[in-house]
Amino acid sequence: VLLVLTLQTAQAQEHSIQSPDDILAVTVSVEKGLLYYSVDRLGVPLINTSRLGIELDGRISLAKDLNIASTDRNSYDETWEQVWGEKRYIQNNYNELRINATAGSRDVIHFSVVFRVYDDGLGFRYEIPDQSNISDIVIIDEKAEFAIEGNPTAWWIEAYQSNRYEYLYEKSLLDDAANYTHTPLTMETGNGTFISIHEAALTDYSSMTLRRKKGNVLEVDLVPWSDGTKVFTETPMMSPWRTIQVGDTAGDLVTSYLILNLNEPNKLADTSWIHPAKYIGIWWEMHLGVSSWSSGPDHGATTEHTKEYIDFAAEHGFDGVLVEGWNVGWDGDWVANGDQFLFTTPYPDFDIDDVTAYAASKGVRLIGHHETGGAVTNYVEQMDDAFAYYNSLGVNTVKTGYVAHGRDIDRVDEKGSIRRETHHGQYMVEHYRDVVEAAARHNVMINVHEPIKPTGIRRTYPNMLTREGARGQEYSSSWGSGNGPDHTLILPFTRLLAGPMDFTPGTFQLVPSEDEPENSVQTTLAKQLALYVTIYSPLQMASDLPRNYLENLEAFQFIKDVPVNWEDTRVIHADIGNYYSVVRKDWDSDEWFLGSITDEEGRVLRAQLDFLDEGRQYVAEIYADSKDAHWDSNPLGFRRFDQLVNSRTSMNIRLAPGGGMAVRFRPATAEDITRLAESD
Ligand code: NOJ
Repeated sequence: VLLVLTLQTAQAQEHSIQSPDDILAVTVSVEKGLLYYSVDRLGVPLINTSRLGIELDGRISLAKDLNIASTDRNSYDETWEQVWGEKRYIQNNYNELRINATAGSRDVIHFSVVFRVYDDGLGFRYEIPDQSNISDIVIIDEKAEFAIEGNPTAWWIEAYQSNRYEYLYEKSLLDDAANYTHTPLTMETGNGTFISIHEAALTDYSSMTLRRKKGNVLEVDLVPWSDGTKVFTETPMMSPWRTIQVGDTAGDLVTSYLILNLNEPNKLADTSWIHPAKYIGIWWEMHLGVSSWSSGPDHGATTEHTKEYIDFAAEHGFDGVLVEGWNVGWDGDWVANGDQFLFTTPYPDFDIDDVTAYAASKGVRLIGHHETGGAVTNYVEQMDDAFAYYNSLGVNTVKTGYVAHGRDIDRVDEKGSIRRETHHGQYMVEHYRDVVEAAARHNVMINVHEPIKPTGIRRTYPNMLTREGARGQEYSSSWGSGNGPDHTLILPFTRLLAGPMDFTPGTFQLVPSEDEPENSVQTTLAKQLALYVTIYSPLQMASDLPRNYLENLEAFQFIKDVPVNWEDTRVIHADIGNYYSVVRKDWDSDEWFLGSITDEEGRVLRAQLDFLDEGRQYVAEIYADSKDAHWDSNPLGFRRFDQLVNSRTSMNIRLAPGGGMAVRFRPATAEDITRLAESD
């Protein structure tokens, strides 16, 4: 039922809209020429009266002297199918309120603010249509606020830092958070409601950070160009959606698909070449310093060494082998000299024709790598050729990289001068999108490191598989300081709400060794396995050295069995920073998988297996911490056992400090039933 309340007086105009099940209510008003909105949930204030509007260059304000000329309302309910995903069918059900506003009294400018209100959150965006008084638009400030009710607990990372999004999350009351934070910014209110603020469909705009003002008012702060401008655009213009996801539990945020729903449907006519996949790579050994990206005696990307990895991938069922350091440009200081990278010139000891032919003969593919060192103009000049080159060699997935400090992206401007842009401003947002489109033209899937945060573009371009954009496991290699046992307990409720992440789990070498003098991975072995389920990514890496897997084939079996494409996802336990259990159903079979993880505290959780088909027996293949496992003192303490279970089973999930549990549930055969019934 669409409940409409419209009050109009000479001073104030007010329009309200509710979500389909009346859970959220948004009220939009104009008072003294200023535009505001507020949000209630079940009658309780969530977002207090907050400003809306945009300031343009040339003293044009779409933030004051405003009138609401008219409103339009709409309702929508459809279920759409993902090309791949964490859930196959997604319901998109919202009520829409379009506020058609005018700004100014002379040279009036028309624009709209569109609200889409769902039961699990809302989005709003600005639209400036074609009109006679304006065509080129230069945005110097966006005024949207989120005046947060109360002083919630917040999990945040600070914006405008040199390592982009790669920081450990902080937890504090909102009024103690940094002045500028990244999104998703997740909060728990005093009455236990969970909120996360982010954006959707960020395409040709700069990205949004949040500036904290007095009274817990968060204001949109757009990341500027090097000249200080926020956005260059033109009519007709649509901003990204500013999103607020809301749930009764932290798990509700995980299973909210609002961000995807607010993106455009798939634009690729043919998606038959797009496949989620698992991969290994000549990669971790470089991060351990065992081999090098650069040429010379320690060069990792040699023909022979790559063939060894291809053999391993073929034998253990991996789809791809990532090879970094294969192309000219890595010698010397590649971070400073990214303009030396050549994307179609392999090093002489890497015979790419031989390697790709060998891979094809074994049913494996090379996964390509384009590290730009942040020298974006150099990359753009070669990009189309580089994708065509890879495509001609049968390479259908490319990992890209932009290693450079936060404000160190090289843009060569029209006059040939180098401008320093940030990873998160409009120049790079558009670049990242151009790469996805260029890759699609050559049937290439993309995995971006040092990316822009995800905002649901994968719906529109399903070749945009996964990305980094947070501290990944690489921070636990020889150069990093580790991530701490609770990092992966915060990620699902913050960064991962935005989209998949190439975290690269799977370290088996967890005790100090010559290559790794301390266990900076800070998990047990079973937790490494559980991460394949708790961290959703359509591309998952088994990141450790093959020899470490060969030493523990029993545990490795889980990585071989776990799917990367899911028909359904359900959260069983969710406590941000403490513990998390999720079950996912394989897209292609009747199997379910469970991942459960904890921070540095050991715990016992109970899971009702009511997601399994009723009346059917399953074998639970359990990969668990041993009784004496501990992330620091005994990370390899591990047990592998089978249990016969069904939908009525209540399962004990015993997690060691810093531990985890991974389970594959497969329909039992008659033989399983006899074997396991006997051992009971
Ligand atoms: C940083 C990336 O996150 C990592 O995966 C890659 O190996 C290096 N850059 C080099 O490109």
